[in-house]
Amino acid sequence: MKSIAVFTSGGDAPGMNACVRSVVRNALYLGIDVYGVKYGYNGMIEGDIYKMKSYSVSNIIQRGGTILKSARSKGFMTPEGRKKAFEQLQKRGIEGLVAIGGDGTFTGANLFYEEYGLPVIGIPGTIDNDLFGSDYTIGFDTAVNTALSAIDSIRDTANSHDRVFFIEVMGRNSGYIAIQCGIGGGAEMVMVPETATTVDDVIQNLKEGRDKDKTSSIIVVAEGEVHGNAHEIADKVLSELPELDIRVSTLGHVQRGGTPTAFDRILASRLGMAAVEGLVNGKKGMMVGIVDNQIQYTSFKIAISKSKPIDEDMLRMVKILSI
Ligand code: F6P
Repeated sequence: MKSIAVFTSGGDAPGMNACVRSVVRNALYLGIDVYGVKYGYNGMIEGDIYKMKSYSVSNIIQRGGTILKSARSKGFMTPEGRKKAFEQLQKRGIEGLVAIGGDGTFTGANLFYEEYGLPVIGIPGTIDNDLFGSDYTIGFDTAVNTALSAIDSIRDTANSHDRVFFIEVMGRNSGYIAIQCGIGGGAEMVMVPETATTVDDVIQNLKEGRDKDKTSSIIVVAEGEVHGNAHEIADKVLSELPELDIRVSTLGHVQRGGTPTAFDRILASRLGMAAVEGLVNGKKGMMVGIVDNQIQYTSFKIAISKSKPIDEDMLRMVKILSI
């Protein structure tokens, strides 16, 4: 393999830059030319592709976001879009691809690989941590730490004013961020799409807290929670317990940016290296992940179709630690 390209796609995640850096430098180390594709699949279709040097990735390991920019592409989901993208790569002699992103990115990558046979390796880069085949995704640890520091601040107000706070964290279809924040932030409860916690359970929990003279409570709600968003849930609770002083805080995109933690930088560097070495060793149509702290390759098909189970013990712990 003489020439590969790397791109970031879908929602950005802190640590993506560290990953791009690792891909570029590992490829150059092996004597492989590297191209950067800007704006994900959209840039691939448009030919927004440039040759990268070692200095192209200087001074980015500590930066959030992605220097390659990112996008969610509708065009690539059409056969015409993929054909154009393939021609752009062919024109430049690109023989392999490294795709950094989440399940949407890998759905596209898998179609591309199946249609054109071009070797593609995916690297899980999403704050949601929702990909089967990797215990951790790039950006998750940073997002959790960012959310936690916000929750710590909110706790001060909750405590000073004897309030109940519903704090919504990101996670489109998954509760990973919420669970970690629930444990790390000492929440009374977490509401995540993977479990059947209902609004009645929350009301019950708050009543019990009141009976035990708890003066403030924090409930962490995952964005993808099936019983509604944090505002809707808070409204329902307030109608049952009007004596409570309830506030809602939606943390939003603050969780997607910022300086990546050491964990994310190291994870990104390891996965970037494994992606390049995987391509060189003939791996294709796969995502590279970390399982039990070891590099593991999982086919795109499995990575995007299987859901990663949440650890029930973690939820049990939230309950126990908030008695
Ligand atoms: O997939 C990562 C994520 O941050 C989700 O948690 C969230 O639902 C989504 O992206 C938001 O996407 P956008 O920034 O495109 O609104």
